[in-house]
Amino acid sequence: MIEENTAGQIRRRRTFAIISHPDAGKTTLTEKLLLYGGAIQSAGSVKGKNSDRHAASDWMEIEQKRGISVTSSVLQFEYEGYCVNILDTPGHQDFSEDTYRTLMAVDSAVMVIDAAKGIEPQTRKLFKVCAMRGIPIFTFINKMDREARDPFDLLDELEKEFGIGTYPMNWPISCGVRFKGVFDRQNRQILTFDNFHGGRQKLQAIACDITDTERMDSLIGEDLRQELVEQIELLDGASYDFDLEQVRNGRLSPVFFGSALNNFGVEPFLENFLKMSLPPRPRQAGERTVDPEKDGFSAFVFKIQANMNKAHRDRIAFMRICSGKFERDKEYYHVQTGKTAKLSQPQQMMAQEREGIQEAYAGDIIGVFDPGVFSIGDTVCEPGMHVQYEGIPTFAPEHFAIVEQIDSMKRKQFAKGMNQIAQEGAIQIFFEPDAGMERVIVGVVGVLQYDVLQFRMQSEYGVEYRKSDLPHTIIRRIADQDIRPGTLKLASDTRWVVDVRGRNYLIFSGKWSVDWALENNKSLRLLEFTDREAMDE
Ligand code: G4P
Repeated sequence: MIEENTAGQIRRRRTFAIISHPDAGKTTLTEKLLLYGGAIQSAGSVKGKNSDRHAASDWMEIEQKRGISVTSSVLQFEYEGYCVNILDTPGHQDFSEDTYRTLMAVDSAVMVIDAAKGIEPQTRKLFKVCAMRGIPIFTFINKMDREARDPFDLLDELEKEFGIGTYPMNWPISCGVRFKGVFDRQNRQILTFDNFHGGRQKLQAIACDITDTERMDSLIGEDLRQELVEQIELLDGASYDFDLEQVRNGRLSPVFFGSALNNFGVEPFLENFLKMSLPPRPRQAGERTVDPEKDGFSAFVFKIQANMNKAHRDRIAFMRICSGKFERDKEYYHVQTGKTAKLSQPQQMMAQEREGIQEAYAGDIIGVFDPGVFSIGDTVCEPGMHVQYEGIPTFAPEHFAIVEQIDSMKRKQFAKGMNQIAQEGAIQIFFEPDAGMERVIVGVVGVLQYDVLQFRMQSEYGVEYRKSDLPHTIIRRIADQDIRPGTLKLASDTRWVVDVRGRNYLIFSGKWSVDWALENNKSLRLLEFTDREAMDE
């Protein structure tokens, strides 16, 4: 039985991902949240594209060069008795598989939307995944200090796109140069915006009853007051009722308007979010339901990353703790290898620093040193607990290229780099049955992954390579391992490739050649590469 203290620790955990289209303001919002948590001391330390201070969440140089976030990072801070874990996600859709894995490790998601743009393609896909998985979604509509779209239209779009209800927690009073602040619907008061309160300063809401015409007029002017009164009437009459149960089931998204850059609306967002969101909930592991508070330690690996920091040339497996308490000196069971051992060098990201830890609780993410034994989706638990979490599906690659080493003296580094980066799930590698290890077929979901590969192969393994793009876009697994693919009748553009586990696949340049292969080989059965669930639209 787990001690009381552990249950208390678990209950104060809030673990969420912030997701958005690039440039909507995810990094800026993260930075402001960290400021509230006292985890960083000054604005600009999470990210300053124009300065030399680098983002706490941007680990790789390539991210700084391109100004996009490639790796998902995890940050922890304390705020008013809560222990908050924020998982950052890459904004670019070429890395959506990474974001998808991160979503498996969180209890809720915060969606940042640029008020001028609304839902963009990337947010559309990812939020469908959240909606389908019943992950509670909190929406922050950002950049109200700029010209924005009509707030009713934005809500309408959210509801239509995701098939969930929305409940504006506050309502903007105009936007852009006329932006005056927000009306807090629960407290029936306005929070005024002025241009000079950026940085750390906490704002006091100006309590003003919406029916106090004179005071309202002096604060926001007569026109805007009239407009606000009309809009609030409309909203109170037409929108969904607030229902916390629905929020927690992912059926109703609370919506907050604000400006992350100006630190406006961030604190009320954080406070409401913490109150409304839930601590870790029970998780399904096959037939068994694992209770975070009652069961012993269990966790699954959702991310592996090598060489995150040049000073530490190591490989870290990130685990989401699903139940119980992790203790540094205890031995745990790795289900996939059947081995029991201490997890070595356990650590957490605390703002910019990695810190060694003694203990951690359900809801937390820990990074442990990985000597090459972990794979994405693996389960680690207390010995004798008999639990195995469902694996995390891999996306089918949609682009393929032949990658050949140039310098035959670097054969070892080439093979090592390719294998390690593939094990992290950053690329997928295949081999042609007749070619050696110096030539691999690299499959990716988004082409920017190739840039990351090239950069990492050069900087981490000192290897240059030649890459030739292939026209293939579809991959299928051959169901029957006994079939000799060399004997199949295939269209000239179809290639036979093999994965590291020796399984046979065919890659095709279009749907027609899949059909051709099936028609001309009656005994051939092809399997989808993987079940991409909601990502397949
Ligand atoms: P991302 O992580 O989602 O990609 O977005 P990020 O926070 O980097 O923000 C993208 C740009 O939008 C940044 O400007 C940032 O300063 C700006 N921004 C974020 N929130 C607001 C807001 O509430 N109002 C306004 N007006 N702008 C906002 P940048 O010029 O691209 O970068 P930087 O030079 O400011 O770092």
